[in-house]
Amino acid sequence: MISRRDFLVEFSAGLVAAAAFPPLVASDGQQPGVSIAGKAGMIVRSARFFDLEMPPEFFDSWITPTSRFFVRNHMQEPATLDGETWRLAISGEVEKPVNLSLADLEKLPIHTVTNTLECAGNGRGFYQPHVPGVQWQKGAVGTARFSGPRLGDILERAGLKVSGKHVMFHGLDEVPGKVPPFIRSIPIEKAMDGDTLVATHMNGSVLEKHHGFPARALVPGWVGAASCKWLSEIKLLDKEFDGNFMKPGYRLPNHPLKPGEPLNVDDSHVITSLQVKSVIASPVDGSILDSRTFNVQGAAWAGEAEIVKVEISSDGGSSWQPARLHHDEAKYAWRLWSHRVKVSGAGEYTIRARAIDSQGRAQPQAPEWNPSGYLYNAIDQVTIHVQA
Ligand code: MTE
Repeated sequence: MISRRDFLVEFSAGLVAAAAFPPLVASDGQQPGVSIAGKAGMIVRSARFFDLEMPPEFFDSWITPTSRFFVRNHMQEPATLDGETWRLAISGEVEKPVNLSLADLEKLPIHTVTNTLECAGNGRGFYQPHVPGVQWQKGAVGTARFSGPRLGDILERAGLKVSGKHVMFHGLDEVPGKVPPFIRSIPIEKAMDGDTLVATHMNGSVLEKHHGFPARALVPGWVGAASCKWLSEIKLLDKEFDGNFMKPGYRLPNHPLKPGEPLNVDDSHVITSLQVKSVIASPVDGSILDSRTFNVQGAAWAGEAEIVKVEISSDGGSSWQPARLHHDEAKYAWRLWSHRVKVSGAGEYTIRARAIDSQGRAQPQAPEWNPSGYLYNAIDQVTIHVQA
C-alpha cells in the first residue's frame, strides 16, 4: 500500500551549473554544457522545456532507472505542486462529478504495470527529408514500473454515462502565452482497460516532478503523449477531443505520403499504439573493436503487441540470424536481446537489427515519412570497425 506521507515529499528540479556534471558532448540538436538535476548523463535536447534523451548505452537494463528515463515536456513544468492540496476533478458525461485527493486515490486498489513508454517523435532526427521538432534519435523511450489506481475504478466513482465515449486529460503545465494547453483524450475502451492507470508511483517511488508528480495517466502500449502528466482534470466527452495536441498534432496520414508532402488533416487519424521497433544499444555506432567476435545487444518493443523475434545481420542485410530474447518480459514492456557476432577479418561492418511482433509486423527497411516525424521504426544499424 502506498503511504500518504510519501506524497508529501517536496520536489525540486532545475538547471544546475555545468560544473556539477561533466559537460555533454555536442552533437546535432544537443545543448552542450547543460545538465539537469537528477538526470546526469542524459542528452539535453531542450533546456527551455526539459527534453532529455537516454544515450544508447543505457539500453542495458530491463527496467530503466528513473534517473535515466527520458523526459518530454511541451511546456514549462508546474512551478509548485503540493500533494496535500492537489485534487483531481472528474467531470463531463458522468452521473456525479467528483474531486479526489491523493488520500482518496490511495483507498482504491493499487495496480502495477511495467510499460515501455516511447515518445511518438522518437527517431525524428533520422527522417529524410528533415522534419522540424525535437531531433530525438534513439532514446526518447524507457521502461518503468508504474503504479496507482486503475483509471476505470476512478471513473466508476463518478458514475459513467453511456454518452461518455472519450476520456480527456488535462495537466498542470505552465502554458506560455497563447500556446494551447496540453489536453488530449483517449477512447473509453482504452480508459476502462484494467492496465490503464492514474499512476502515482514509478519504479517503486513517488513520481518525480519531471514524470508527472503527483499523478499522471499511464496508457500502456500507446505513444507517450497519451500519458498526461501532472493530472488535474479528467473529463468524459461524447466525442474525441479536437484541440491542438489531437488535431493537427499527433496524427498520421491514412495513406502513405511522399517525402515532403503535407498532411491532410481530414485524411488522417490520431496515433495510438506504438510500432514494432528495436534499437542496438551496443556496440555504439562508430566503435572500434579489437576482436572479431563481439556481443551485439539492444531492446525491442511493439506497443500493444508482443515481440516474437529479433534478427541480426552483420553483412549489410544479406543474411539474418535470430538473437536471443532475454527472459524478463511483461505485456507492454520491451524485451532485451543479444547476439554473438563473428566476422571474418578486420574491416568496417554494418550491424543491423530488426524486430518482428505477434501481429506479424516487421521493421521496415525505410521509415514511413510523415511531416511531424512520428513513429520512426526503420531497421536500426550501427557501423563498426574491427581491427583484429
Ligand atoms: N503531459 C503533460 N501534461 N505535458 C506534456 O508536455 N508530454 C507527453 C506526455 N505527457 C506531456 C505530458 C509526451 S509527448 C510524452 S512522450 C510523455 O509525457 C513523456 O513522459 P516522461 O516525460 O515521463 O518520459
